[in-house]
Amino acid sequence: MDTKKRKLITLDEFTIQETRKFPHATGELSSLLRDIALACKIINKQVNKAGLVDILGKHGATNVQGEEQMKLDIFANETLINVLQNSAECAGIASEENDDFVAFDDVFSFNSKYVVLFDPLDGSSNIDVNASIGTIFSIYRRVSPMGAPCTAEDFLQPGNKLMAAGYVIYGSSTMLVYATKIGVNGFTLESSIGEFCLSHPNLKCPEKGRIYSVNQGNTCKYDQGVKDFLNYCMDKNGKDDGEPLSLRYIGSMVADLHRTLIKGGIFFYPADQKNKSGKLRLQYECNPMALIMEAAGGIADFGAGRILDIIPTELHQRTPIYIGSKELVSKSLSFVAENSIA
Ligand code: AHG
Ligand code: MN
Ligand code: MN
Repeated sequence: MDTKKRKLITLDEFTIQETRKFPHATGELSSLLRDIALACKIINKQVNKAGLVDILGKHGATNVQGEEQMKLDIFANETLINVLQNSAECAGIASEENDDFVAFDDVFSFNSKYVVLFDPLDGSSNIDVNASIGTIFSIYRRVSPMGAPCTAEDFLQPGNKLMAAGYVIYGSSTMLVYATKIGVNGFTLESSIGEFCLSHPNLKCPEKGRIYSVNQGNTCKYDQGVKDFLNYCMDKNGKDDGEPLSLRYIGSMVADLHRTLIKGGIFFYPADQKNKSGKLRLQYECNPMALIMEAAGGIADFGAGRILDIIPTELHQRTPIYIGSKELVSKSLSFVAENSIA
């Protein structure tokens, strides 16, 4: 059956169709995305059961079947590692939950082209309150020679070398959004067939937005430039409609970024007087979101340049981030650049 005549297009069908546009593409990236999607479907199932932990047994305790309950972020981490180790395309992984990267130690993986970095469960403090959480992933082509284990330099590439990146949001519905440099597409999990299906083709972040998203409780710790920008957000002067902007903050980057991507606005996690690099992690959170946002026509900056151009020196390094609609992020940068901590 011709997929063009059918309404539902699965993630797999979509990525294969995209690959065909490039005569030399081998389909390995599509296959890797399918593996990541599989891991996320397994995580999704466990996330949906999170509300039952009190009945089935607390995390760390033993449930009625006598099985050990695992914390969701550990479960998510182990699921991704396990699925990717079985994948034909992945040479190794780095995870927010592991101190060091893992080079898969088998001959198949020695000949795999890609490495994957991930934040297995983002927004984990929201699990107990049933708010949206997510998984964030990045895919680099390895730079180390094939035929041997992958090495640290494969994982320390700047974001501008990303082949693809994406996130899964476990929300009122479960969605996978992924980007290559050419564009961003969103897929919603259709649970009756267990497949992510194309629901948000060619996503673009609105150029203007009226929502700002930040942990405003930290204002006393921010430098003057950030405080000035916050005052701009709260002020009705200087706005087209004479109204202040709206504040929305979930505290789960995936959820805050997903809203920012669809509705426009800005999400920022600045440096402060104590944490000169902010809180969010470059390789697991900021780079993948920056690739997605730029491919959707938005901006992602650390206050003095593109996130994607930062050369990582360590796996778990942090960076401030200002990300979202072109107009509002540019506005924030004009305040921040004027008066930064450094
Ligand atoms: P994680 O759950 O992976 O540790 O990430 C939490 C992050 C991110 O999702 C969110 O944007 C940020 O922490 C919220 O931090 P604050 O509680 O300091 O606002
Ligand atoms: Mn996170
Ligand atoms: Mn996490």
